[in-house]
Amino acid sequence: MASPGVRARITALRQEIVRHDHAYYVLDAPTVPDAEYDRLFRELQTLETEHPELVTPDSPTRRVGGTPLDAFPKVRHAVPMLSIRTETDTEATGAQAFDARVRKELGLAETDPPVEYAAELKFDGLAINLRYEHGVLVQAATRGDGETGEDVTQNIRTVHAIPLRLNIAPPPAVLEVRGEVFMRRDDFERYNARQRDAGKPTLVNPRNGAAGSIRQLDPKLAAQRPLSFFAYGLGEVQGWQPVPATHSATLDALAALGVPVCAERITGLGAAALVAFHDDIAARRDQLPFDIDGVVYKVNRVDLQRELGFVSREPRWAVAHKYPAQEQLTTVLGIEVQVGRTGALTPVARLAPVFVGGVTVTNATLHNQDEIDRKDVRVGDTVIVRRAGDVIPEVVAVVTDRRPQPEPPRFDLLQRYPVCPECGSHVVRLEGEAAARCTGGLVCPAQRKQALLHFASRRAMDIEGLGDKLGEQLVDRGLVHTPADVYGLELDTLAGLERMAEKSAANLLAAIETSKATTLARFIFALGIRNVGETTAKDLAKHFGGLDRLIAATEAELLAVRDVGPIVAQSILQFFAEPHNLDVVRKLRAAGVHWTESTGMQQLAGILAGKTLVLTGTLPTLARDAAKDMIEAAGGKVAGSVSKKTDYVVAGLEAGSKLVKAQELGVTLLDEAGLLSLLASDNKSGQHALDF
Ligand code: IVH
Repeated sequence: MASPGVRARITALRQEIVRHDHAYYVLDAPTVPDAEYDRLFRELQTLETEHPELVTPDSPTRRVGGTPLDAFPKVRHAVPMLSIRTETDTEATGAQAFDARVRKELGLAETDPPVEYAAELKFDGLAINLRYEHGVLVQAATRGDGETGEDVTQNIRTVHAIPLRLNIAPPPAVLEVRGEVFMRRDDFERYNARQRDAGKPTLVNPRNGAAGSIRQLDPKLAAQRPLSFFAYGLGEVQGWQPVPATHSATLDALAALGVPVCAERITGLGAAALVAFHDDIAARRDQLPFDIDGVVYKVNRVDLQRELGFVSREPRWAVAHKYPAQEQLTTVLGIEVQVGRTGALTPVARLAPVFVGGVTVTNATLHNQDEIDRKDVRVGDTVIVRRAGDVIPEVVAVVTDRRPQPEPPRFDLLQRYPVCPECGSHVVRLEGEAAARCTGGLVCPAQRKQALLHFASRRAMDIEGLGDKLGEQLVDRGLVHTPADVYGLELDTLAGLERMAEKSAANLLAAIETSKATTLARFIFALGIRNVGETTAKDLAKHFGGLDRLIAATEAELLAVRDVGPIVAQSILQFFAEPHNLDVVRKLRAAGVHWTESTGMQQLAGILAGKTLVLTGTLPTLARDAAKDMIEAAGGKVAGSVSKKTDYVVAGLEAGSKLVKAQELGVTLLDEAGLLSLLASDNKSGQHALDF
């Protein structure tokens, strides 16, 4: 028998885990680090293993997935799950036609006031009915034919956003929540990237990802797929008091019970409100974190919904208003490759132009040879192209019945491109790597261009004006072989390039000059070492404090840096083992690229540790981001507004109200020179030598 202490601990653990789940999966605002969550979860699992009699169906441990099924049992819906009429006119007139129909059915005259509507998103996933009895999730079913669906309770339990128990006391006898299970785009991309790396099959699109996971007979597999849920309505309800009188109040009430409800919804009067919502969402569709194929309008008042009723299983009070599709059919005209910064050859399908997701697409990525093999994409094939959000267009599948006869041959990247199309160096595919790579390194102009653009990019050396077109000319004309050559460019040469004049050339030179004052972290990032992103560069800079210490670091020393594993360590060792790269670093320093160094982690806290600084106005030479990086490297924090807690205000030209406030509060003021000398004093061993 479990002691009262164990019972109380189990209850407390469950409550805490449910709270963290809600914060993480529904509110998108995690409350504890993953490690702490895992600790709580394991403690609960252990207690439940020791005391199986205390396991309840709503325990968070029940989400992990039970035994595989042979088939899903059938479920008869207590209230049929209806479908919704689709307005195919994607223009404003679509919304106006719906409002006109509703007014006519309600017998309203033109002089009568406008009808109130609720407008929300049409989620692109799988419709699910969640049945809660006495507050506990007892069954989840798909829509099926509307009368009878499939019991997918085991799989639905693995969706963390769906509460296993409603947050309500006393709970209603029955409350059925209806909504859509879907996959967020970032979860979809991440899942597919992981599958690709592991050489496993990828999901075609988020909708199939969601539907396929829920129809998966093995709940352990379903549990590995990252799914989300939003409620949009009710099924059977018994003993819920008071039942909300409008659709919007219903969704608010569900949110209060802990059920995920999408915040992108409005209520408004008449067709004008619907048109405004449709336009607003259309403009932001790409930025939404998940796919939608339209919006849904509903008459808000439940009594009016009842009055309007149904025609042929579709409610008269609701309509789906579509957007242009994010997937289209087109044909593959050819398969080419693009050479990236690290030499990876990415196969790209050249497509017959097709309008998809709001833009005309002519190219789509095929990722790598394994992906081409898995999808079996061939030149001449009819394919489904997907473009959603800001993601690069992608070939998701081939329509094999439409393959030309006789069949075109399979595409073999290494056979087609034994040498790099840009530089003629050998192309190799290393054991265990998905990508084929050009071995040309910086001899390869494509890699040089990409390396140069990366070097100049905003988060690296931040050379404004050095973009695509210019980078291409500089490399093609042999003016820039390595990033160090950027610092030797002259006005006349630049002014003679396409799209450049005296003025823009002078601006570029000024930007190049400004970029010389940087931070160690930016410099390391700018070098473009494989597998060293911005965060790793910051960690390396903080850890070693100086470039020479990083260059001299052994594998063991590199592995001691936060988040640096064997792969990153190898990349760094290889990079600095290459004499050519060391030469570039030496030339960059010789050209005047400099930063403040410190003694690194061995050093005590930086000179600005615990200090808060505010930056205002334009500093004469330092870009704002650079100043911020330097302050942070010295242990300081940069705040947005001045208060009594501010230690220093760094003021540049045209400093405004923040400067006035600082003076009022008597906060110490610094100019750029003052800041730099303060930072320079941050080194007892004199290692801060600005490396000119
Ligand atoms: S309401 C009686 N609202 O679209 C009205 N449906 O045919 C029932 N859907 O299968 C549906 N987002 O899965 C409604 N905000 C939303 C929706 C939505 C997506 C799906 C639903 C249904 C289909 C409509």
